[in-house]
Amino acid sequence: MTDRKATLTFKDKQHNSYSASFPIYSGTLGYDVIDVSSLGKEGIYTIDAGFHATAACKSSITYIDGGKGTLLYRGYPIDQLVEKADFTDIGYLLLHGELPNKTQKSDFLGLILDHMNLHEQMSCFFSGFRRDAHPMAIMVGVVGAMSAFYHDSLDIKNPDHRNLCAIRLIAKMPTIAAMSHKYSIGEPFMHPRHDMGYAENFLHMMFGTPYDESAPDPVLVRAMDRIFTLHADHEQNASTTTVRAAGSTGANPFACISAGIGALWGPAHGGANEACLRMLMEIGDEKNIPEFIARAKDKNDPFRLMGFGHRVYKNYDPRATVMRRTCHEVLDAVGRHDDPLIKLAMSLEKIALEDDYFIEKKLYPNVDFYSGITLNAMGIPTSMFTVIFALARTTGWISQWTEMVQDPNAHLVRPRQLYIGKDKRDVPPAEEW
Ligand code: ACO
Repeated sequence: MTDRKATLTFKDKQHNSYSASFPIYSGTLGYDVIDVSSLGKEGIYTIDAGFHATAACKSSITYIDGGKGTLLYRGYPIDQLVEKADFTDIGYLLLHGELPNKTQKSDFLGLILDHMNLHEQMSCFFSGFRRDAHPMAIMVGVVGAMSAFYHDSLDIKNPDHRNLCAIRLIAKMPTIAAMSHKYSIGEPFMHPRHDMGYAENFLHMMFGTPYDESAPDPVLVRAMDRIFTLHADHEQNASTTTVRAAGSTGANPFACISAGIGALWGPAHGGANEACLRMLMEIGDEKNIPEFIARAKDKNDPFRLMGFGHRVYKNYDPRATVMRRTCHEVLDAVGRHDDPLIKLAMSLEKIALEDDYFIEKKLYPNVDFYSGITLNAMGIPTSMFTVIFALARTTGWISQWTEMVQDPNAHLVRPRQLYIGKDKRDVPPAEEW
């Protein structure tokens, strides 16, 4: 309940004045919200096409302060979590609300490892794809197809079913992701191993072969784990909003996560790290940087500097700070500090950070700028970058979906519109069309 109200006064088309009051609510942190849900009764809607000033739900999972550059998972700052916790802890934290104790952690990881393998019949899905299919296309298809496979957990009103779906999704994403890569290069699929952790298993399934099962480099395992942690959740972004919108219809979680993967694919969202790497290759040489900076500033040129800017962060993205550090650790471990692409990226970062246009518009490098370079240095193919993002974000998506399904006040997502098409008219005889 609240005793604070916002009053809106407006004129209709006949210039009659109306006013209506709306309750104002406060969360734990962040901006207050005005509840305009009753506004439609007054014969008027609000419009906010990109949700720039619209809270779409209540949530207690993740908090971002874009001005200060803060990111909290269940209240814990991201920079502390990457130092003190691993991705298994993060999965448990996002899903259950608290960090796991030792027993809870080993039970959670044990459950995930038990579910990591794919049923042999599910492996057959892959052979339906062309070898040159983008692995994101395979992910959308195979994750969506899980609903055709796991009929035993599709009752979204049953908490045990919901939990089993969450575990299956978190557990099988690394396997599906690695299989989509192995399929594209024609190598045999690798099985997950019970003696390896989550990130380690992913790298093992990506790079291991039946004739070389040596354990992945611990520095790379740690880097992968951090990449997963940094990408695990990010409040109500485009893909999470897609998952929630799909979920609001009562669709099963496999279908909802598949929709989220589709939304993540775009270059303005999860596809940015792939787009960033491609941009670096297009720039090609440090001497060409000024030309591309000039293009990014030119209003008549659609080109944007990929890996720079963020809808919410108008300060340094806290994930980018951690990712930058991780990037250098990986470059040291693989001995690639002198790689021309890496040198080019570092020069671009420096020049953009000192340029007035980028300073004035608060366009800082985002997490995707460094994650692309790091993944490249780790030997991950560019087409797999967004897949890795999707793998990590699945934990956040399924936690957000679970929260929404349990929320008694959640509604079917059904926005209205400002119609600007033709007025009602009769269909003329066909010869006049
Ligand atoms: N390069 C050049 N100019 C830019 C860039 C950029 N990367 N990003 C924003 N701008 C400019 C815009 O042209 C605009 O200029 P104007 O005010 O003169 O019209 C101004 O900055 C604001 O841009 P918007 O698009 O309104 O800002 P918004 O907050 O909606 O955009 C977005 C955020 C989409 C991420 C944008 O910065 C962008 O396209 N960046 C490149 C893609 C990218 O790196 N995406 C990854 C996001 S992080 C993630 O998904 C994990």
